[in-house]
Amino acid sequence: MFESIQLAPPDAILGLTDAFKADPNPQKVNLGVGVYKDESGQTPILSAVKKAEARLLEKENTKSYLPISGSPAYAAGVQELLLGKDHPLVSAGRVQTAHTPGGTGGLRVGADFLKKFKTDAHVWMSNPTWANHQAIFQAAGFVTKDYPYYDKANQSLDFDAFLEMLTTIPSEDIVLLHVCCHNPTGIDPTQEQWEKIAEVAEVAGWFPFFDFAYQGFGHSVESDRYPLELFASKDLEFAVAASFSKNFGLYNERTGSFSIAGQTKEAAEAAFSHVKTSIRSNYSNPSRHGGGIVEEILADPALRQEWLDELDTMRDRIKSLRSQLVAGLNARGIDRDFSFIEAQNGMFSFSGLTPDQVKILKEKYSIYIVGSGRINVAGLNASNLDVLCDAIAEVLA
Ligand code: LMR
Repeated sequence: MFESIQLAPPDAILGLTDAFKADPNPQKVNLGVGVYKDESGQTPILSAVKKAEARLLEKENTKSYLPISGSPAYAAGVQELLLGKDHPLVSAGRVQTAHTPGGTGGLRVGADFLKKFKTDAHVWMSNPTWANHQAIFQAAGFVTKDYPYYDKANQSLDFDAFLEMLTTIPSEDIVLLHVCCHNPTGIDPTQEQWEKIAEVAEVAGWFPFFDFAYQGFGHSVESDRYPLELFASKDLEFAVAASFSKNFGLYNERTGSFSIAGQTKEAAEAAFSHVKTSIRSNYSNPSRHGGGIVEEILADPALRQEWLDELDTMRDRIKSLRSQLVAGLNARGIDRDFSFIEAQNGMFSFSGLTPDQVKILKEKYSIYIVGSGRINVAGLNASNLDVLCDAIAEVLA
């Protein structure tokens, strides 16, 4: 059987890391995958994480299974991050949360669950979106569609076209929305624009599914969750897949969640029982370590503050790298306005480079960025910033 199978294409993002590792050029730069790196080019383990791990090691007295949806204390911590302390929906039992293997696992668990009840729905996603979104929903059996999002000419949000499309999406369909730090563009709706989106959602009746992978990388843990608080305030049903890969730096611990908000406790519990059957037939129940770390940090005020301070440091450093990138490009006299890079949120900059230019960066300069032109700004440092600016200047000359 295997003799007749052709190679699958490399992954658009993780495949770049494989190609980067195989590149013998000592000057090579990997700005592909969305991973935060410090000034020395390392992806550090946060000090709050190290402390939590030490405590876990000390306290742990069993390796027995967790419940299908994970630890209840983890779920409570996640719900507080998503909606704030003592949110009325949480107090009313209307929010249910499962610990999933990363945000990707959260999206897939959500997709499998939704497919059971929305068999003929289409899943709408922004154009462009994270390279894995289509694959996840298609693997769950959905047909995916695009809504307009990015205005290429102005490097901004094409809000009118986006909103207009949302008004035409049928009520039985599902709309995937990035809560903050839109991947790959870094361009988010303003709070006023979110209010309009929520008004349309209320009237149109489609099902909102939020992807929340960068909480704290936009403005703050609190203000980044505004869209969820808004939808919750309107009593709309919705789902959220959240990731702790970036904000806790727990990439290889695969720590995320899938949550649903229902209109009554009974409805949320009934729906969640089917989330659990999806998990049981997939990976049975989650692994402990990453969730244990998050639970430990969120439950201890001092550790939680330490984590928030470290998150602030990462966010501030990325913002400063954005300014340095714009200054570096301007200093090379390129006849283009790059100031839009400073207005983008999160780890990425959608540079406006074409696929051909991205190919030249890789083949001639060993600089790896995603084919859409997405640069992982969080991977820049003093030693590779000039290399990148020089190469971009030459590619655009
Ligand atoms: C990214 O977009 O680079 C990250 O979310 C990592 C991934 O899994 O693709």
